[in-house]
Amino acid sequence: MIDQREPLTIKKELEWAVPFLSASNNNIANARLEAEVLMAKVLNWERIKVLAHLLDPISELDSQGFRRLVQKRAKGYPLQYLTGSQEFMSLAFKVSPAVLIPRDDTHILVETVLSLKPQVKPNPSIIDVGTGSGIISVALKKYWPEAKVSAVDISPQALEVAKANAENHQLEIAFYQGDLLTPFQGSHTFDIIVSNPPYIPSRDIKNLQVEVTQEPVLALDGGADGLEFYRRLAKVAPSCLNPRGWLAVEIGFDQGEAVKRIFADNGFESVKVVQDYAGLDRVVYGVKS
Ligand SMILES: C[S@@+](CC[C@H](N)C(=O)[O-])C[C@H]1O[C@@H](n2cnc3c(N)ncnc32)[C@H](O)[C@@H]1O
Repeated sequence: MIDQREPLTIKKELEWAVPFLSASNNNIANARLEAEVLMAKVLNWERIKVLAHLLDPISELDSQGFRRLVQKRAKGYPLQYLTGSQEFMSLAFKVSPAVLIPRDDTHILVETVLSLKPQVKPNPSIIDVGTGSGIISVALKKYWPEAKVSAVDISPQALEVAKANAENHQLEIAFYQGDLLTPFQGSHTFDIIVSNPPYIPSRDIKNLQVEVTQEPVLALDGGADGLEFYRRLAKVAPSCLNPRGWLAVEIGFDQGEAVKRIFADNGFESVKVVQDYAGLDRVVYGVKS
């Protein structure tokens, strides 16, 4: 018997997916782009190839795979966890639900550390605390190859992702598992400690966008007032820093003054707050006095 159904094409699948994603309540701003990205993922192609082959037929199996991804995305599951990747500072990173999805704003922290070059020795030792997917340590090693870069995270699953990213970029980074700087206390000291720690107040976690609630709570929860990690880190950092060593952290937009005070209370000087391109406080850094 002849099958009268019209063949499935990439174009028809996208035409189904775009209004489906747009109608979801999860703030999907560019449904067309996301549908194309998910199609590229299923077909294991670049997105540009999807655009060049819109009229190509698509197999029943690929169509089912695509629809599964689109339905998951419409429920608020992050696009990056579906594709398994995210770009940061022009570098490709693998991501998984074990790690925070890299945020573009974190480049302000990396650039702040890179700006310290004239003030430290040419081959400084740097430790990235709470490395997650490894974006900070990988970007620092990539853009400051002479630096000796290490990274620590309390989550073994996050460390697996970070190690894979360092390997993919063929960069030598030493990874450690542990709570903040405990793996180094009494053994190593560094010239720069950098961290993007969890900084959302615990009570705000339940009110986050659906997408953000899919990220590990370990990467988000900054304790009762969101400042817990800054207090702990600023307290132990001096014993792990060389003389005139630097501490640089990413902060929430309303935490600048509080974190500056925490730094000063723990003996840091020349403490500065750096704004992002939107003019919001984003980074605090200072030098061990
Ligand atoms: C906000 S995420 C930052 C991830 C990554 N550095 C980035 O900028 O995308 C914080 C990270 O700190 C880790 N973390 C949480 N508590 C920690 C602790 N006590 N010691 C070390 N790492 C911790 C989490 O597992 C998570 O990977």
